[in-house]
Amino acid sequence: MVSLKNNKFLILGAGNMGISFIKALLQNKISASKIFIIEKNISPELKKIKLQKKITIVKDASKFSKNFKPSIVLLAVKPNQLGSAMSEELIDLISDSLIISIIAGKKIRELKKITRNKNKTVRAMTNTPVSLGMGTSILFFDKKINKKDKILAKEFLALVGQVNEARNESIIDTFTAIYGSGPAYIFLMIEILIKISSKAGLKNSENMVIQTFLGSLLLLMSEKHDAAMLRKKVTSKGGTTQAALSILNSNKGLPDLLSRAINKARKRSIDLSNN
Ligand SMILES: NC(=O)c1ccc[n+]([C@@H]2O[C@H](COP(=O)([O-])OP(=O)(O)OC[C@H]3O[C@@H](n4cnc5c(N)ncnc54)[C@H](OP(=O)(O)O)[C@@H]3O)[C@@H](O)[C@H]2O)c1
Repeated sequence: MVSLKNNKFLILGAGNMGISFIKALLQNKISASKIFIIEKNISPELKKIKLQKKITIVKDASKFSKNFKPSIVLLAVKPNQLGSAMSEELIDLISDSLIISIIAGKKIRELKKITRNKNKTVRAMTNTPVSLGMGTSILFFDKKINKKDKILAKEFLALVGQVNEARNESIIDTFTAIYGSGPAYIFLMIEILIKISSKAGLKNSENMVIQTFLGSLLLLMSEKHDAAMLRKKVTSKGGTTQAALSILNSNKGLPDLLSRAINKARKRSIDLSNN
C-alpha cells in the first residue's frame, strides 16, 4: 500500500459503495486530510464518519479551489446520475487524475466521453462484500493506461478485497452475472435451507445453516483439497449425501439451473449497458 499513501482521493457519490471505500481508506491509514467526497445527500453514516475523521465533504465540485487536483477519483454514483454529476468544474479538476468507475454497465468508451479523460480512465466492477473488505472485483484497462496507473488502480480496489484483471471488456457482463449478483445466489440457498430445516421441525435452523456455510468455507480454505475433492470426501457410496447429490446433479439439476440463471443475468447486464 506504499504508493497509495502519497495520493489525494476524490469519491463521487458516498452511498453504499462510496462509504465502503471511504472506510477502507481510513482503515488502511490513509490520512483523512487526503480524502475528499462529493455527495449531495449526506447520510447519517457519512455524517458519523465525518465527526470522527476530518474528511472533506462538499455538495458539488464548485466548492473546491481550482488548484485542487485529486490523484485518484472513484466514480460511485448510480448509472443514471453520472451525466448530471459530471459538471464542467469536476471535469476540469480530474483532467489529470486516475479515474476508476465502479458504475454498473458504463462502458469505457462512454466513461471516457463523459469524463473527457482519455488516458487514465479505468472501468471496474465489484460486489457488496466490499463493505467488509471481502469484495471480489474486476478491472478493465484499455491500452492507454500506463503501468503505474494500473498498479495504483489495483491497489485501490485491493483496499476492499480481491482484485482480478479482465482481458476484454465484454467479460465484465459475465463477472457481473456470477460475482456481482453472486451474493444473492448464496443468500437464496441459505434462505431455502433455513425454510426446509425449520419446516422439518429443527430449532435454531438459521444458526445451523449459517454455521454449515461458514464451516464448509473455512474447511475449503484451510485444506489443500479443492471443492470437488472435499465434496467427494463427504459422499460415501450409497449414503445420504449421494442420495441428495443424485438429484442436485441430475439432468436439469443444479448445474443446468445455475448456468441458465447466470446466462440470463449476463444477457440482462448486456442489455442494461446498451441502453
Ligand atoms: N450496490 C452494489 O452492490 C454495487 C455493486 C457493484 C457496483 N455498484 C455500482 O456502484 C454505484 C453506486 O452504487 P450504490 O449502491 O453505492 O448507490 P447509492 O447508494 O445510491 O450511492 C450513490 C450516491 O451518490 C449520490 N449522488 C447522486 N448524484 C450525485 C451528484 N450529482 N453529486 C454527488 N453525489 C451524488 C446519491 O445521492 P441520492 O441518494 O440523493 O441520489 C447517493 O448517495 C452504482 O453505479 C452501482 O452500479 C453497486
